Amino acid sequence: MNGSVSAPGKAILLGEHAVVYGKPAIAIPLPQVRAVADFRLNETALTIVAADLQRPPWQWDDSATVSSDPLASMAALTLQHLGICAPKGEITIRSAIPIASGLGSGAAVSAALGRAIAALCRATLSNAALNALVFEVEKLHHGSPSGIDNTTIVFEQPVYFQRGQPNHRISPTRRLDFLLADSGVPALTRESVAAVRQSVREEPARTNCLLDQIASVAVAALASLEAGDRMRLGELMTANHGHLRELGLSTLELDTLVKAAMQAGALGAKLSGGGRGGNIIALVEPAEASAVKRALQLAGAKRVLAASVGGG
Ligand code: MEV
Repeated sequence: MNGSVSAPGKAILLGEHAVVYGKPAIAIPLPQVRAVADFRLNETALTIVAADLQRPPWQWDDSATVSSDPLASMAALTLQHLGICAPKGEITIRSAIPIASGLGSGAAVSAALGRAIAALCRATLSNAALNALVFEVEKLHHGSPSGIDNTTIVFEQPVYFQRGQPNHRISPTRRLDFLLADSGVPALTRESVAAVRQSVREEPARTNCLLDQIASVAVAALASLEAGDRMRLGELMTANHGHLRELGLSTLELDTLVKAAMQAGALGAKLSGGGRGGNIIALVEPAEASAVKRALQLAGAKRVLAASVGGG
């Protein structure tokens, strides 16, 4: 049996980092950049090939367990959950989601792999179960994730997410257009989350005040999204960039991209994801999108992606 399954990237619209501390945040899936897992039943032990991820092929053996390797961990956890032995076959993972750029590459690869293993085993794996498994892998390899990345990626829906609360899927009434611009600087979310944790320890009053301000912006943004108020949403995004900057999460490259987007007519712009590198996200009117894209390229963006949500 051969086939192909996948999972999208994601972008955080507002509320990153504060979401780790139980505050709300909003994220959208990026269906046009995906991790894809092609699977093929054969007579050899389960083999996972992921050349894009710069790693040698990995072959299952029955002593394989949750380990320091995210793919091996995902395979072991999925089979444990399904309660079956490893199937014979090969899974080839390709990903168009840049690594260490805040777009959810790790969670998307885990989700695609979980789906491929279930398909090879002809087993049913619900999105709720897959989400829990991907979250386990995120916890093993990314420190203390909030769960927003795996939730957005597995359900492939815009979410208003708060740890410990039921998922609130958002359907914006009006179409919203975004541009994501890559600073080209790789940055590990694990490290930026650890840096914020250190600030919480060393400067609790200031850091907690910023995290509270981010939470207020996310709450206000939900109302703007539901009301289709693009201007207000843009203002909130730019305000959120200021908070993240004060938390030490921006860089010269990210600030330059935010400024270029705003000067070219974006309604709002901010870094997206862990920060200290990776991408910015800008909200644009469709008529301004190509001017903003050009400005971002001139300001040094290594790649500009368009994304949209809502509006039926
Ligand atoms: C990363 O996409 C978002 C962070 O808030 C971390 C997390 O929520 O796990 C920085």
